[in-house]
Amino acid sequence: MNRLAVVGHPVAHSLSPAMHTAAFAALGLGDEWSYEAIDLTPEGFAAGIAELRERGFAGVNVTVPHKRAAFAIAGERSDAVAAIGAANTLSFTAEAIRADNTDASGLIAALPGDFDPAGAAALVLGAGGSARAVAWALDRAGAAVTIANRTEAKAVGLARELGVEALAGIGPESAIDLEPFELLVNATSVGLASEGAERPPPGADLKALRLRADQLVAPLVAVDLVYGSEPTELAATCTSGGATLIDGLEILVCQGADSFRIWVGQEPPIEAMRNAIRANR
Ligand code: ATR
Repeated sequence: MNRLAVVGHPVAHSLSPAMHTAAFAALGLGDEWSYEAIDLTPEGFAAGIAELRERGFAGVNVTVPHKRAAFAIAGERSDAVAAIGAANTLSFTAEAIRADNTDASGLIAALPGDFDPAGAAALVLGAGGSARAVAWALDRAGAAVTIANRTEAKAVGLARELGVEALAGIGPESAIDLEPFELLVNATSVGLASEGAERPPPGADLKALRLRADQLVAPLVAVDLVYGSEPTELAATCTSGGATLIDGLEILVCQGADSFRIWVGQEPPIEAMRNAIRANR
């Protein structure tokens, strides 16, 4: 049996086991491959990875809060991992731990087939780890990237590091003008529902993102990395306004598909993965 897992803390609610298990079943590989969720604390991460490798696991997906630690532990790193400083996919061989970042490649794969990122003007909201992966991937794909963030200094710092633009001088009460942009990516945590918490009032998430509903219209392509059991306010507004929406579940499918290619070396059954995610959200 080739064993795989997603490691995180917490990790129990991860949709990745359902997605990959469905993929193996669809390809008739259910007896050869398995995928489970394993909780590793930050203190236990390095020892936990060593143990999984010893037990013969083929690799793992790495999620919050371990993506930087996964970068650090790897002996071989893809270009994306080296540039982003974080990894979400580890592959174990006898010689080394190899790190890839399919958050970056999955984002590009998730863009609509008729949307060419090369030369496109892209606005990335956020300046944390997710935004770094997105901005790097889009820049690498040839997009003209601008970063905007609530804490402007962080947007300016990240943009300088990556050699892209930052939006500065927009107050918390103002809206960002989307007119110049063909692509919008929400890489903040706005829209993430915390368990048991009340949903924010209508308009609150768009206001936090400094977006205006009347600008979330065709031909804008909008990506929201956030997902939950319900569509985010950004996603719902794009859908009703007519902007092309790539939601967080589709991004999850595309990063999972790229990880699957790396481990299994076969073309993943995307539709089966998508169905499993949507059925378990
Ligand atoms: P991740 O690793 O997922 O990127 P992170 O590093 O914690 O997570 O980054 C979260 C991002 O969401 C940041 O860009 C944060 O903005 P600040 O740098 O100003 O903190 C953004 N964010 C979180 N809550 C927000 C809110 N209520 N309004 C606007 N931006 C928010």
